[in-house]
Amino acid sequence: MDAIVSLCKRRGFLFQSSEIYGGIQGFWDYGPLGVELKRNVREAWWRDMINAHDAYSVPDGAPTEFGMVGIEASIIMHPQVWKCSGHYDLFADMMQTCRECKKLFRADHVWEMLRESDWVKSLAKECAVDFTADLVTIDSAKVARWARKKGPNIAPGLAVVRNSEVTLSWLAEFQQSEPEQPLSATDCLRYLATEQKNATGLQTPCPNCGGDLTEPRWFNLMFETYTGALQSEENKTFLRPETAQGIFVNFKNVLDSARVKIPFGIGQIGKSFRNEITPRHFTFRSREFEQMEIEFFCHPDTSQDWYKYWRDRRMAWYKEMGLSAERLILREHTPDELAHYSIGTADVEYAFPFLGDGEYGELEGISHRGDFDLRSHMEGKLDENTNPLELQLDAEGNPKWKGSGKDLQYFDDQTRERFTPHVIEPSAGADRATLAFLCEAYTEDEAPDDKGVMQKRVSLKLHPRLAPIKAAIFPLIKKLGMPETALGIYREMKAAGLNVIYSQQGAIGRRYRQQDEIGTPWCITIDGDTATDGAVTVRDRDTLEQTRVPVSEVTNEILNRLRG
Ligand code: GAP
Repeated sequence: MDAIVSLCKRRGFLFQSSEIYGGIQGFWDYGPLGVELKRNVREAWWRDMINAHDAYSVPDGAPTEFGMVGIEASIIMHPQVWKCSGHYDLFADMMQTCRECKKLFRADHVWEMLRESDWVKSLAKECAVDFTADLVTIDSAKVARWARKKGPNIAPGLAVVRNSEVTLSWLAEFQQSEPEQPLSATDCLRYLATEQKNATGLQTPCPNCGGDLTEPRWFNLMFETYTGALQSEENKTFLRPETAQGIFVNFKNVLDSARVKIPFGIGQIGKSFRNEITPRHFTFRSREFEQMEIEFFCHPDTSQDWYKYWRDRRMAWYKEMGLSAERLILREHTPDELAHYSIGTADVEYAFPFLGDGEYGELEGISHRGDFDLRSHMEGKLDENTNPLELQLDAEGNPKWKGSGKDLQYFDDQTRERFTPHVIEPSAGADRATLAFLCEAYTEDEAPDDKGVMQKRVSLKLHPRLAPIKAAIFPLIKKLGMPETALGIYREMKAAGLNVIYSQQGAIGRRYRQQDEIGTPWCITIDGDTATDGAVTVRDRDTLEQTRVPVSEVTNEILNRLRG
């Protein structure tokens, strides 16, 4: 992962936001190549899901034909949207604060972060203990030495560092009282963090400094702002935490204006904002990110079929775009994992290199949202059978938040049936997808240099549709008319809409390597033979195969290769 992060910075894919001021956690800037890559991810999604969709045929696995349209809603919406959607009451994570260093942690991330923390690694090394194992035996003398020598710098807040004797004596007492029972790794770390012999419970150590963490408490993830000059409660608005709600509140507008019939989907790509407590793993969990969401409206009776269809189709899309089947899984959520709106969710997950062996990170969630959202925006609550939002009811059992009061039902003029559509939501993250494509593409292998000697190289084996630059055009040398021919090809390709570059600097092998490293699928070289045979060499990034192609056909050749 470190090599990928370093390549991203060095070659201008990704920079830390506001870097010259020390950066701001959870925000990222895409550089000249990164912006092209992410645009290509968005465009591939938009084209494959919306524009290229044939509304009059039934795709493989779909129950029937269907339409797809797009919208672009505003980021700031009426605050009532978030009250009725449930985000105002329920879009929260459990947070813990360190009493010593004041850092905040997402409660469900603390143990994972502890295992990755510098101080736990250092303690593990010193005491030859594996804290990732279930059970451990700890040598107090070694802990005491670590607490004296390394602890003060690396984990000054840890109880055993601040008061080694008392803490270790308590640990020893525990171990002697249960001599046959080895200590669980988790309990061991908690004993080392717990200073008070008479404390009622064991404390959880801070992943940063080892200090004591507060009890978990709820923290709403929506960023707040104000619209208008007055910063009053009535003027409070929110940056959207998902693009989905912009689609639900426009359901009727689209239905009345776009000549669509159920079943149909509305897609949207746009920024979302979440005040994540622990943004981490590069762009994987950011505070500002982009979503690519579809809300697919269908009849309740066929909703399970559509759920399966979208689950499988979205999984297939990632494979088509280059992610390997071995690193992808489709995982159904267990009932206790489901979000407040969901009656079924499957995640497409990818084995990101920053995760442990056998661990996967979410790329996209495909949810069966039932009629939750449309009903909420109509009524401000759901009926008793489907309402998971008990918090929305006031003391008298009346809806706490008022819906729009608008009729968001669908009338089928053939069956004469009126119903609230059910919704299937494939919700993808553009930044997570971009990161997964980068991770998958990163390859260290060998290629021949100018003398034909194999040398180590780094290449990004991106799908050509995603590659920031589609081709690089090189005159072998800066004379004999080669630059003129090369510039002619370059201009023809630009006019054909291809993002290509021209370079005449450096040895040809070096130029190839520079392009391999940024994922350019083809390099086109104009050499000494071009003047006589009227052809150029097209070199393939992955196979290293070199093909002679007539100058007059090379633009079409690249366009054809891109179409696959
Ligand atoms: N409308 C449903 C929804 O927003 P979600 O699972 O919270 O569902 C959908 O988000 C996708 O958005 C995720 O699968 C992920 O790809 C992306 N995403 C969510 N939070 C993110 C974050 N903090 N940083 C980057 N991407 C994020």
